[in-house]
Amino acid sequence: CGIVGYIGTQQAAPLLLEGLARLEHRGYDSAGLAVLGSGLRVAKKAGRVRDLGADLPKRFTGKAGIGHTRWATHGAANDLNAHPHVDAKGDVAVVHNGIIDNAATVRQQLTDDGVDLASDTDSEVLAHLIARSSADTLEERVAEALAAIEGTYGIAVLHADFPDRIVVARNGSPLIIGVGDKEMHVASDLGALVRYTTTVAHLDDGEMATLTATGFTTYRHDLTRIAREAEHVDVDPAAYDAGEHDSFMRKEMLEQPSAAERVLRGRLDERFGTGHLGGLDMDARETRAIKRVKILGCGSAYYVGQMGASLVEELARIPADAEAASEFRYRNPVIEPDTLYVAVSQSGETIDTLLAVQEIRRKGGRVIGLVNVVGSAIARECDGGIYLHAGPEVAVASTKALTNMFLGFALLALQLGRVRDLSIADGKRLIAGLSRLPEQIQEILDGEEALAALATDLAGAESLFFVGRVRGFPVAREGAQKFKEISYRHAEAYQTSELKHGPLALISPEVPTIAIVPADELTDRNVAALHEIAARGGPLVVLTHADVDLGEVPCRRIDVPRSERELDPILLTIPLQLLAFHAAQVLGHDIDKPRNLAKSVTVE
Ligand code: G6P
Repeated sequence: CGIVGYIGTQQAAPLLLEGLARLEHRGYDSAGLAVLGSGLRVAKKAGRVRDLGADLPKRFTGKAGIGHTRWATHGAANDLNAHPHVDAKGDVAVVHNGIIDNAATVRQQLTDDGVDLASDTDSEVLAHLIARSSADTLEERVAEALAAIEGTYGIAVLHADFPDRIVVARNGSPLIIGVGDKEMHVASDLGALVRYTTTVAHLDDGEMATLTATGFTTYRHDLTRIAREAEHVDVDPAAYDAGEHDSFMRKEMLEQPSAAERVLRGRLDERFGTGHLGGLDMDARETRAIKRVKILGCGSAYYVGQMGASLVEELARIPADAEAASEFRYRNPVIEPDTLYVAVSQSGETIDTLLAVQEIRRKGGRVIGLVNVVGSAIARECDGGIYLHAGPEVAVASTKALTNMFLGFALLALQLGRVRDLSIADGKRLIAGLSRLPEQIQEILDGEEALAALATDLAGAESLFFVGRVRGFPVAREGAQKFKEISYRHAEAYQTSELKHGPLALISPEVPTIAIVPADELTDRNVAALHEIAARGGPLVVLTHADVDLGEVPCRRIDVPRSERELDPILLTIPLQLLAFHAAQVLGHDIDKPRNLAKSVTVE
C-alpha cells in the first residue's frame, strides 16, 4: 500500500492524486483521499487512482490532506474498505499501511462499547480509537491509540479539531517527510515526493512526527522529542517517470545495459581477477572463514537467489543455497556462525525478507543485503551489503533490479572464490565476461522484434512449461514467474530432467515448452529431453547458443549471445522478460500493474 500527505498553501487534492498515481505500483485495489478545509471531507473507492480523480466531488477543497492506495489484506477491495477510514462523527481520518495483529480484539471492544464499524478492515479501529481519546493534543491522542494496538504500521492522521497539522507514525512501514517551501509532504516512498522536494527526513520505527505548513517535529511514541535534520537526496525526478515509454517495464528492460554498468562500476579488479565490494566490510581472513552461504528473498528475488547460489558454489566451492524468505523464518532455522546469510530485495522493504533478516540477527547470525533502495529497512538492518544501483524500479515485474542482483551475486562469488581456490586466470576470465555483459544485453534487446512475434503465438496458450537444468533451472523458474505475473497464463517451471517423472503427461500440441539449452556440459542431455517432448507433439521454443546442435528437433530457436558458462543464466533470462512483456501486451493487460499483485509487499 502507499501513503501520501500534504499540508501547505496549495490545494491538497490535486497534489495528493498526483502522489498516489506515483505510488500506485504499491497497491491498486482501491484509493482514497481526505482533505481538511472547512471541515473534513473524504472520497474513496475501489479501483484505480484515475477513477478516484475522475469522480472527486466538487469543492473538494482544503490545504491539508492525506491519501492512500491499497493492496487488500483484511477485507475485500471495495469502497468501504478503502482508506482513509473515519470515526463515526467524521472528525478523524486515518490512512494506514501494515497490519494490526490484535484488530479482532479491538474491533470487538469497540463494538461492545456501541461503536459502529463501517468496514471489514483492521485499520479502521485507529480512527475510532483516536476519536475516543480526550487527551489535549492530537499527538497524545494518536500515541494513546497506538498504545492500544499491536502490529506494523505507517499512518497519517487528520483531525478536524486540529486543522493546522498532520500527525504521522511509523512502526515497520516506511514514511518519509518532504520539506518544501511553506509546505510539507509525507509519503511512504521517495518516488511520490521527488517532484516537489528532494529535502527529506526518514522516520524510524517507533517514531512519530507532526507536520505543519511551516515545518516538522519528530518524537518517540512516548512523545519525548528527538532531533531530526532533513537531508538533501541526490535523485533525478525524471528517473521516476516512464518518459517516452508506454510502460515502466519496457523502460526498465531497456535500461538494463546502463544499469548493469552501474552495478559493476568500480567493483571489478582486473589485475587480481576479483570483485571489489567495499560494502562487505570483511577482510580476507573473515571471508575465508565462511563455510556456507544461504540466500533469502521472495518472488523473483528468490529465483535470482538460486542463480546466485550456483555462482557461489561454482566459483567459491562453498555450499550455497537459496530459500524463500517467507518460509525460512517459520521453520525455526538453525543459524550457524560461519554461514554468510544474504538477503536479496529490490525494495528493501518486503516484510518476509526483513523478518528473516531480523530472525538471523536475533540468533547471532551475520547477514548482508543485496538491495536496490538505498537506506531501506533491509539495507539498514544488515551487516553491510551490496547496493544494486539499478535506479528506481516501478513496474511490478522486476527486470533491471533482477539483472543487477545477478551481477551482485557474481561479484560476491568472485570475491569469495578468489580467497579460496578460484585461480587468477579464472578470475580474469570472469571479469572479462562481466565487462562484456552490458553490450550483450543490448544485443538481446535489439532482437526484440523476433521475440515479440514469438510472444504473440505463445500468448494464445492456456498453459506453458518452462524447463531448464542446473544453472538453467532458476532461469526457467524466473521465466515462468514473469510470464504468469503479467500474462496470467498458467506457466510452470520444471527441471528438464524431471519432466519424464510426471509432467510429461501434460505435454500436448496445446502446451508449449520453453526450454533453456545453453552450450554446457548438459547440452546433450537437454537435447535428448527435447526429443521426448517433440515425440509427444509438444511445441518447443528453445533458448540456446549459436554453436549448439539441436539435431532434427522441430522447434523455434532463439540464439542468445554466449558469455562465460557461469554468467550465461542472466543472458538467457532477458529474452524471457521480452517474451512475457509482449505476450501481456498482445493480451491487452496492464503490464506495470498486474492484477492482485503489488510491487512491495510490506505485510506478511
Ligand atoms: C513482490 C513482487 C515481486 C517481487 C517480490 C520481492 O511479491 O510482486 O515481483 O519479486 O515482491 O520484492 P523485493 O522488493 O523484495 O525484491
